[in-house]
Amino acid sequence: MVTGTLALGLVVSGLVLFLAVLLNHLENSEIPELPRMDQDLKTLHENFKAKSKSCFILGASGETGKELLKEVVNSNLFNKVTLIGRRQLSFEEEAYKNVVQHVVDFEKLDDYRSAFEGHDVGFCCLGTTRAKAGEEGFIRVDHDYVMKSAQLAKAGGCSHFNLETSRGADKNSSFLYLKVKKILQMLISKEKWMRLEIFRILMCDRKESRPAEWLTRKFLVPVAYMFPSAITVPTSVVAKAMINHVVMPSDKKVELLENKAIHMLGKLEQNVPQL
Ligand SMILES: NC(=O)c1ccc[n+]([C@@H]2O[C@H](COP(=O)([O-])OP(=O)(O)OC[C@H]3O[C@@H](n4cnc5c(N)ncnc54)[C@H](OP(=O)(O)O)[C@@H]3O)[C@@H](O)[C@H]2O)c1
Repeated sequence: MVTGTLALGLVVSGLVLFLAVLLNHLENSEIPELPRMDQDLKTLHENFKAKSKSCFILGASGETGKELLKEVVNSNLFNKVTLIGRRQLSFEEEAYKNVVQHVVDFEKLDDYRSAFEGHDVGFCCLGTTRAKAGEEGFIRVDHDYVMKSAQLAKAGGCSHFNLETSRGADKNSSFLYLKVKKILQMLISKEKWMRLEIFRILMCDRKESRPAEWLTRKFLVPVAYMFPSAITVPTSVVAKAMINHVVMPSDKKVELLENKAIHMLGKLEQNVPQL
């Protein structure tokens, strides 16, 4: 009996230790390579605004898309903001009054070419899950719709595309989700953008309740306290990271931003001198 308890204790301690080492690795192993900031963030925002660029957002009704839209609107960075989605969204705030909306049928995107024309910057927060849409539906949304939208945007003049995908994306993965995300990343990278930013999110603190994720997230609360950038990232931080990154000049054609970089970028303040 005593031996059994001791063995169990050892196994549990071993597991806890393994988890702590793993989380510590996730927290500290990535050394994000961010663009060098020759000017402070506030100046970069001002310089970007002066260029009078336009942008479009795909998936602005989603958890990260909503936050991104809020940042885009409140930052006033773009002279025109267009949402492309499957349904009309309503906004009460005055700040959203100039937001243009195109409701499209994603199954017939070629019929909506004009919606994708004339945008300098594109943000893609589109996505679903296998649980919601089934295997085929997931591939349609997360691969086909995103890919086609990116191609139409590119053809319509967009040169800077920002894509949300997932950490761990891997074309050889046995998880459909990770496999599709990697294939998408590879195909979109071939489109020859002036700039392509790929935000490889691990897990956001979603408001929408997905039972397994909800449970995991509850379990992760103390973990997130000790290792803040190892696993979760608030949707508001993802949105701020996308906005702060878009204003930073970069000569890299393709940039992969992992969880840690997203945390760092999303927490930059405009009144702090430099990185
Ligand atoms: N949130 C995370 O923890 C996390 C982690 C890793 C990666 N990501 C990736 O980041 C992206 C955004 O995630 P999210 O959590 O913000 O997603 P979300 O809350 O589920 O929002 C998804 C967006 O896609 C749209 N959409 C879904 N199915 C569609 C369909 N059949 N046709 C047209 N539009 C459709 C939704 O429109 P409706 O509002 O009309 O449904 C919504 O605007 C996804 O690609 C996701 O895989 C997210």
